[in-house]
Amino acid sequence: MYGIIATWRMAKEGIELADEMLKKGETSGSAIETAIRAVEDFPYYKSVGYGGLPNKEQIVELDAGYMDGDTMSVGALGAIKDFANPISIARKLSEEKVNNVLVGEGAEKYAREFQFEEKEMLTDRAKAFYRKKKKELDQELKPYDGHDTVGMVCLDQSGTVTAATSTSGLFMKRSGRVGDSPIVGSGFYADSEVGGATATGLGEDLMKGCISYEIVRLMKEGLTPQEACEKAVNDLDQKLKAKRGEAGDLSVVAMNNKGEFGCATNIGGFSFSVATQEQPPIVYLVTREEDGHCTFEEASKEWLEEYMRVRMAPVEE
Ligand code: GLY
Repeated sequence: MYGIIATWRMAKEGIELADEMLKKGETSGSAIETAIRAVEDFPYYKSVGYGGLPNKEQIVELDAGYMDGDTMSVGALGAIKDFANPISIARKLSEEKVNNVLVGEGAEKYAREFQFEEKEMLTDRAKAFYRKKKKELDQELKPYDGHDTVGMVCLDQSGTVTAATSTSGLFMKRSGRVGDSPIVGSGFYADSEVGGATATGLGEDLMKGCISYEIVRLMKEGLTPQEACEKAVNDLDQKLKAKRGEAGDLSVVAMNNKGEFGCATNIGGFSFSVATQEQPPIVYLVTREEDGHCTFEEASKEWLEEYMRVRMAPVEE
């Protein structure tokens, strides 16, 4: 069995590439890296890679993480500027014995040393979103709550599970701010003996529950991926509301080492993309019921077209 699951519709084209690779017997690590690079490279996704929205100083700072569930190797970077594919740097970092997590200037020095592609990641379109938001906020710059991280879990034919993330983090965040995405156990986690999980939403809240590790732990206890995702999201959502009066956006996907998958969210509008040996790449829209149970149905052709139309529409300033 093989499969790959990812947060959001934006992962679909990447999932399609990965699906072809997995079918041919290529590794989980290569397939997940290829899939995430496709999202990083697409200029119209404003929360990942090229075209990602900048921080409040109008600089694009990117976070990424990678984990190999066979060896438990982890590589991650935070607040890196001017590199095209943070996921590839994170994967390379996972091969190091130490210095697996690098931030800012140190991450950039490492990426330069290993000749990863350098690129100005701030696009004219992202600059227009920045000007627009700045006007809307009437000069009062606050982090914007849009934060669609791409996170993926991938299982290959040999049974290796990997998990990975890539994000530009919160629009209008402080310089140097790091979310959950490069934090192992929060943004992503993989254990080939069980499966993997990954998260998207408000990093500051996702990390309070180490939510990806928690999902894998629950799957290890015998819960299905769907049960584990729902329990982890609902428990954290309730706890945050009880202790702090509110909970940020929490959305997750998971796949076990049999290729079974699940998802959960505490918001409306969450989507995910998945392909397995048994099903072609499909985008699902998730509905959360009153009791916290989440169901999902395939996105219609109209929904998919409208999604792309909105993403590619001119920015009205
Ligand atoms: N979940 C992404 C972030 O908060 O940066």
